[in-house]
Amino acid sequence: MTATDTISFITHSAKETTDFGHFLATSLRGGHVIGLIGGLGSGKTVLVKAIAQALGVRYPVKSPTFVLMTSHYVHGRGILLLNHVDCYRVGRLTLTDCAALREAMEMPHAVTLIEWADRIPSLLTHIPKTRRTLLTFDVIDTRTRRIAASGALTGSMRKWAKARPS
Ligand SMILES: Nc1ncnc2c1ncn2[C@@H]1O[C@H](COP(=O)(O)OP(=O)(O)OP(=O)(O)O)[C@@H](O)[C@H]1O
Ligand SMILES: [Mg+2]
Repeated sequence: MTATDTISFITHSAKETTDFGHFLATSLRGGHVIGLIGGLGSGKTVLVKAIAQALGVRYPVKSPTFVLMTSHYVHGRGILLLNHVDCYRVGRLTLTDCAALREAMEMPHAVTLIEWADRIPSLLTHIPKTRRTLLTFDVIDTRTRRIAASGALTGSMRKWAKARPS
């Protein structure tokens, strides 16, 4: 990976992370997988909710902590399904869980967002780099987060980070 494959920027509020999520949704295409890494309360679900909203989900999206994955029908730019995975409670994945996650990540018309993606590293490495993005959230203080990005969508994120008002 080269330096141009990574970017990091600060968001100063949940609203700003939401704005970022709305932008990111415009860059998503069917088959994209975004791994979200960061501690409790770092902003992963805030981002997922923003993307879901931007893709047209009209009800509040909740983290699927106890069922591993929920899927939402969406519409736009060849994306029909938003898969929301939360690996917080993942210990050892069963074969069925692995198969379900792999299937989700291979759906050509789905976007898959994975909270606590660092808990399933071997599954993520199967996704081609052209479809895989990683976002790592660091808590700086109550309202401030550093978001570090690498992978497929880094170029368009760089444009967003440069273009936003400072
Ligand atoms: N800059 C920011 N970006 C995102 N969230 C922020 C920011 N500043 C404050 N917050 C707050 O931090 C919290 C983030 O919660 P969220 O549910 O998104 O965390 P999470 O990373 O999904 O945690 P968990 O692993 O527990 O699910 C929210 O209450 C949100 O309002
Ligand atoms: Mg969450």
